[in-house]
Amino acid sequence: MSGSPRILLGTDADDTGRLAAGVVLGTVRANPAAVLGLATGSSPLPLYAALAAAGTDFSRVSGFALDEYLGLPDGHPQSYAEVIRTAVTEPLGMDPHLVHVPDPHGMDHAAHAADYDAAIAAAGGADVQILGVGSNGHIGFNEPGSAFDSRTRVVPLAERTRQDNARFFESPDQVPVECLTQGIATIFGARHLLLIAHGEHKARAVLRALRGPVTEDFPASIIQRHPHVTVVLDAGAASLLGDLACG
Ligand code: GLP
Repeated sequence: MSGSPRILLGTDADDTGRLAAGVVLGTVRANPAAVLGLATGSSPLPLYAALAAAGTDFSRVSGFALDEYLGLPDGHPQSYAEVIRTAVTEPLGMDPHLVHVPDPHGMDHAAHAADYDAAIAAAGGADVQILGVGSNGHIGFNEPGSAFDSRTRVVPLAERTRQDNARFFESPDQVPVECLTQGIATIFGARHLLLIAHGEHKARAVLRALRGPVTEDFPASIIQRHPHVTVVLDAGAASLLGDLACG
């Protein structure tokens, strides 16, 4: 079963944060022990800022991050564990014991990945999975070619992703070459997908995700098959979609 995604249009990046926050707050107010799938990257930062400003109690909310780099030292500011701690866990007042990020420091990544999927399932699955989209169509770090039935696992980063993310590092060669990411099937298991994009540089990826062929060559296109999707865009990210009926 799939339904048309609901598209919400914001005036700018901050406005996408306010609109997306409305979705998350509705879920958390209905269920103070909700489970959130957490994305990193720049797209959800206005959402996290809006959630922090809302003053809602997140102390019983659980979070599962989408992904984590391999090869960065513990505590590296660009590790997603640190990004989630500083952008999400602390500002929202979440319980650190309820916030999970794939652990890149163990010996057996495959076993940890299976445990991570099992932990999401044991928590009841994500009520809302927050997503950004890479310019190459990746969600989490599921690069083009990722199988739709993939679960959490180690993947090599695409060269384009390493270039896109080089802005977060002092030099491009510091960008890790591998990561742990939730799989497409893991992400698809969430009850509600909330995809956020702002800026004209995301317009083509948004167009392909929403209107292009559903293909493993463009992983974000999987959202077309999900029954409950909300997409929050600013004018730049929506600029190739033509006329939009919003609401
Ligand atoms: C990053 C993350 C993704 C994120 C995407 C887009 O590399 N692994 O989870 O959604 O790429 O990033 P941004 O929002 O900064 O454009």
